[in-house]
Amino acid sequence: SKKLRIGLFGFGVVGQGLYDIFTHTTDFNAEIVKICVKNPHKSRPLPADRFTFDPDDILGDPTINLVVEMINNTEDAYIIAKTALQNGKTVVSASKKMIAENLEELVALQNQYNTPILYEAAVCGSIPIIRNLEEYYDNELLYSVSGIVNGTSNYILSKIFQENLSYETALRQAQEAGFAETDPTADVGGFDALNKLCLLVTHSYGIFVKPEELFNYGIQSLSKHDIQFAKEKGLKIKLVAQTRKLTDDTITAFVMPQFIAPNDYLYSVENEYNGVAVEAAFADKQFFMGKGAGGHPTGSAVLSDISACRYDYQYEYKKHQHTRIHYTNDVILEVY
Ligand code: HSE
Repeated sequence: SKKLRIGLFGFGVVGQGLYDIFTHTTDFNAEIVKICVKNPHKSRPLPADRFTFDPDDILGDPTINLVVEMINNTEDAYIIAKTALQNGKTVVSASKKMIAENLEELVALQNQYNTPILYEAAVCGSIPIIRNLEEYYDNELLYSVSGIVNGTSNYILSKIFQENLSYETALRQAQEAGFAETDPTADVGGFDALNKLCLLVTHSYGIFVKPEELFNYGIQSLSKHDIQFAKEKGLKIKLVAQTRKLTDDTITAFVMPQFIAPNDYLYSVENEYNGVAVEAAFADKQFFMGKGAGGHPTGSAVLSDISACRYDYQYEYKKHQHTRIHYTNDVILEVY
């Protein structure tokens, strides 16, 4: 297989998680050549000569053939990914917001420069959901994908239901545990889930869709009455991201809190875990559960993308060119 010479961007939670996993992986013909970081004053657990502060040390190095991007700033992440593809370097990214906002452009660059971009870690961390949708399904026959894709909001809801914690205390715990976004509005407002849903829609049905095009409702406005009602009925409330077929050639997609009954797969997904249920004509039902955040779980997905780069794996964005998305909210409410 191909020898990989890797340039890393970012050495935060995911970057360090990946680095750690990498040191435990022996069967890899791959080497981390350089790590580009932003803040020169931060102390880091590796020798200073492993780091650079100049993106061009990686992007302009012709011996580096793979750029792994795990930074927080969406605009910077896009420029790094774009420049890397233009320079003929394969890209692996964990930046869900950046990918969701720019996917169509990135795929055009991938095709133009014939350099793959992979981003399994951007959706549900350790769960291999993109590869599953890409490889397992003929999308003509895919009925629905329904998931808990944001760990923070699921943690908050779990703590409210299991331990009667207040919303504020549960949110603070999620922040302390390190899986909430820097601005937790993205988590509790459903925006992080929305970014991930866009990627699920594309790999489920071959449609490119921007986050602002889809209906989204978070968990901030849930009231005590909603929670009490759910408890009395033996239900839970979960923040669900869903895309499903409406007719042969139309689909819908939305993020919304839903009442979940005990016989639903998503009922058992608690705390910071993510879960995705897939339903299709012949495969029937599949259910995935795993950690959707954190250095090691997310790093493990990045590592599996790196591994796939050894044989130039590329998503196909195939099929369903004739499917349209139905945006109307009354349809969403009907489905709901
Ligand atoms: N804030 C995100 C979450 C991190 O809570 O799921 C992983 O994308």
